[in-house]
Amino acid sequence: MISYFDCAATTKPTEQVIKDIETGMRDYWYNPSSTSEESRKVKLQIEHARRQVADFINCKPEEIIFTSGATESNNLVMRSNWDIVMCSAIDHPSIYRTMAWSSFNLGNYYVPVSSGGQINLDKLEAVLKYIEINYVHDDPRLMCVSYVNNEIGSTENIYEISKLIHHYEGRLFVDATQAIEYRDIDVQSMGIDMLSASFHKFGGVRGCGFLYVKEGIKLEPLLTGGHQENNLRAGTEPSYLITAMGNRLEEMQKTKALRLKVIGDISWSIKKKLGLIDGNKIIEGIKQNGEYCSPHIISLTIPNIPAQELITLMDLDGVIVSAGSACSSGENVPSRVLKAIGLTDDEARSTIRISFDEFTTEKDVENLINSLTKNVQILKELHMDDEK
Ligand SMILES: Cc1ncc(COP(=O)(O)O)c(C=O)c1O
Repeated sequence: MISYFDCAATTKPTEQVIKDIETGMRDYWYNPSSTSEESRKVKLQIEHARRQVADFINCKPEEIIFTSGATESNNLVMRSNWDIVMCSAIDHPSIYRTMAWSSFNLGNYYVPVSSGGQINLDKLEAVLKYIEINYVHDDPRLMCVSYVNNEIGSTENIYEISKLIHHYEGRLFVDATQAIEYRDIDVQSMGIDMLSASFHKFGGVRGCGFLYVKEGIKLEPLLTGGHQENNLRAGTEPSYLITAMGNRLEEMQKTKALRLKVIGDISWSIKKKLGLIDGNKIIEGIKQNGEYCSPHIISLTIPNIPAQELITLMDLDGVIVSAGSACSSGENVPSRVLKAIGLTDDEARSTIRISFDEFTTEKDVENLINSLTKNVQILKELHMDDEK
């Protein structure tokens, strides 16, 4: 039996998603841009999905662009015509590393975060004031921020960031890849100008995602060719993936209350069993990183236990967890994100990420706790001499 605790890397497709994709591939495989009756049906399916996505985040359907996933959506936003781009010090590499390519390069700014993993609003305001004084008023400026951090699960206060950014006449782009399943998203009331997400992070499959772009904002396409997606994303649409994504979001909307309860219960159960709630820790020195965390990500530092060795031993027990994010695991360089929230190199190398979804069971949690405690003890004995 596999107990999977790496949902922040990717989630297992739901049965309904698999069924929807299969139906699409069997019956609705025609090119949506062709003119036949069958093609028009496929086109209608895409437009239905666009409305489902729009309803989920409270925008207009014509403000949704389908892409291959969050990396593409993030690049599409950031490589457009911005003169000045800011992001958080702990943003995902698809934002953090795109900064270098992002603008006409008048200025790129990385805003520091607190030890809990939230953007420091005073420092953000200081950057905005600096920009106001040092650049021409009309230079387009963009702030990029991940709603939920992929390594520690910390959640940003999007309302506050939005107020600040708009006060200084910037645009706010939110990467909602890790937030979409377990956080409220309403682009209008939250003051979000652009927002990205990836289907495989919420019970879907890879190769499909979306980007919300508020009416009136003009982006430059990354890919040119056909006129698909309002001329912003050329290429024949993977209609069966788009259809499955729309249906999945509609289902998520209907089951929201139950999903939140289930994920909250699993999160509480893991923390309770580890003794993180009542202070009776079953592993000496273990601590959770981040504040205001999404319930589906728990980042744990276990002093003097090498995370890479721990996850390998747990893997042998059939329990899958990760050290940091999937993008950086295996590199054995201390995580930039963990260092930005104040962990030392050693602490960062002793940190694992447990992430799960509403389909995780109590039996999985039991396997997780058993494997974790057993292997921490093994590694403790193995590395006893290192500590001396
Ligand atoms: C916050 C965040 N943004 C962007 C991405 C990139 O998503 P994808 O690899 O699906 O393009 C990820 C993936 O881990 C993520 O967690």
